[in-house]
Amino acid sequence: MSPNNREQEQEPQNRVIHSVDGIEEYDNQLPRWWLFTFYGAIAFAAVYWFHYQSSGFGELPMATYRAEQDRAAAIAAEKVKAMGTMTPEALITLSKDKTTVTQGQQVFVQTCAACHRQDGGGVVGPNLTDDFWLHGGAPEKVYKTISEGVLDKGMPAWGPQLGPDRVQAVTAYVLSLRGTNVAGGKAPQGERETLTAR
Ligand code: HEC
Repeated sequence: MSPNNREQEQEPQNRVIHSVDGIEEYDNQLPRWWLFTFYGAIAFAAVYWFHYQSSGFGELPMATYRAEQDRAAAIAAEKVKAMGTMTPEALITLSKDKTTVTQGQQVFVQTCAACHRQDGGGVVGPNLTDDFWLHGGAPEKVYKTISEGVLDKGMPAWGPQLGPDRVQAVTAYVLSLRGTNVAGGKAPQGERETLTAR
C-alpha cells in the first residue's frame, strides 16, 4: 500500500468522535466485508450451538472419541474371544470391553456380591477394588483364583459352575474394578501389586 492510498483510506467519512493530543478518531462506517464476517460468525455460532449442544444431533469430539474407543475395544475383545486362549493381555483387553464387563458385572452381582459386596469392597471375601492381592493381582492369577477358588479359605471354585465364558467375563469385571478403591471397603490384605500393563 502506498502512502497515498493510506491517506485516502483514512479520509474521514463522518464526524470526529475523539480528539486527544491531536490524534483524532473518526466515526467511520464499518466495512461491509467486516460486518459480513462478524454477523456470519454469530450465525455460525448459533447453528453450531444448536447442532452440537442443544439438539443432540451432533456428537461432540469427546463423545465421538469415546464411542470410537468403545468400538475398538469391542472389536479387540471379539478377536481375543475367537482365539480362545486366555493370555494376560487377552484378559486386559476384555476388561476394557463394555459388553464383557457388563456381563461380568451381572455374574458378580448374582454370584460374588454375597461375599465380596455389591461394589467389590469386600465382606467375607477380600476387597477387590484396592491394589492388594492375597493370591496375585496379575490378570492370569486373578483368573486362576476365580476359576479354581481357594477352597480351604472359603472361596469356591467357579470354573466348573460358571463355565469359561462367564469366568472370563467376571475376571474382566474384577480387573476393571481394580484401583477404584470404593468407600467403606475392607482393609487391604496381601501384597501390593499394581497393574502395569493397563
Ligand atoms: C462364599 C463366599 C465367596 C464367594 C461367593 C466368592 N468369594 Fe471370592 N473369595 C472369598 C474369600 C473368603 C476369599 C479369600 C481367600 C483367602 O483368604 O485366601 C476370596 C478371594 C477372592 C479373590 C482373590 C483376592 C486376592 O486378594 O487375591 C478373588 C479375585 C475373588 N475372590 C473373586 C471372586 C469372584 C469373581 C466371585 C464370584 C464368581 C467370588 N470371588 C465369589 C469368598 C467368596
